[in-house]
Amino acid sequence: MSDSATRTPLVPPSTVVLVSGGSRGLGLAIVTDLLSAGLKVAAFARTVTPELAKLADTEPQRCYVDSVDVTDLAATQVFVRAAEDRLGPIDGLVNNAAVGQDSLHVHTATADIARIIETNLTAPLQLTRLVVRRMLAQGRRGRIVNVTSICAQRGFPGLVAYSATKGGMDAATRSLARELGGRMLVNAVAPGFFASEMSAVLGQTQLDQIVRRTPTGHLTAPEEVVPVVRMLLRDQTNINGQAIVVDGAASI
Ligand SMILES: NC(=O)c1ccc[n+]([C@@H]2O[C@H](COP(=O)([O-])OP(=O)(O)OC[C@H]3O[C@@H](n4cnc5c(N)ncnc54)[C@H](OP(=O)(O)O)[C@@H]3O)[C@@H](O)[C@H]2O)c1
Repeated sequence: MSDSATRTPLVPPSTVVLVSGGSRGLGLAIVTDLLSAGLKVAAFARTVTPELAKLADTEPQRCYVDSVDVTDLAATQVFVRAAEDRLGPIDGLVNNAAVGQDSLHVHTATADIARIIETNLTAPLQLTRLVVRRMLAQGRRGRIVNVTSICAQRGFPGLVAYSATKGGMDAATRSLARELGGRMLVNAVAPGFFASEMSAVLGQTQLDQIVRRTPTGHLTAPEEVVPVVRMLLRDQTNINGQAIVVDGAASI
């Protein structure tokens, strides 16, 4: 039998993508980029910012947004159904929503550890299960991109629980890629530090130190991460189960 006769059919490019945490920062940059590339995008966050609302107002047939807490499983189910009614079946998921941390582990309250794990690990696993179940039930193939962090691979003080969640998502990426047996491409993008509300807790000394350690001489910009996310959603590659670091070699 020829090789092509036994090969799993290729996963087509995503056309309708759900982006969690699309209201600002990297998530908003991903939503904007995917819309510019002609895709349909459903995005949520707890608060729909004016920037995200404007995208949905400008492109009502291609962009659906709402206010949803990713930790509220029932609310994410309602959102996914409403988004599919408006845009068509979701065949791409970007797990981007997350909360940061700014406390040494010994000073981090139990409730804060639980909130970070629930938002950054439990919720994206549940959202992924929801979306993958629908894709499988409808016989569709798709792509999943988990936004993790260089903190999953390298240590950073003040980010112990956060790093644990991102390492968990990197690990889940590998196992899900194997579990889905090529019916979907599952990857992670692990950015280095970039300027956003989340990283605003870093002081200038820490930022200067990161830049000094970075061979490309600057902090990663969201615009330098976005093309990698788009590539994983759109391009015909055999990349599967990988965590792609985008940090200018700061961590090498
Ligand atoms: N900034 C960095 O240096 C850096 C580095 C590496 C990786 N990352 C990762 O990149 C991704 C984006 O980070 P960012 O820096 O762009 O962060 P950001 O500006 O704080 O944006 C986070 C997004 O997630 C949403 N979000 C947070 N909690 C949520 C919840 N419970 N339910 C729904 N949405 C929620 C936020 O909206 P609401 O608050 O309105 O819900 C917002 O849209 C994250 O996964 C982060 O871990 C960031």
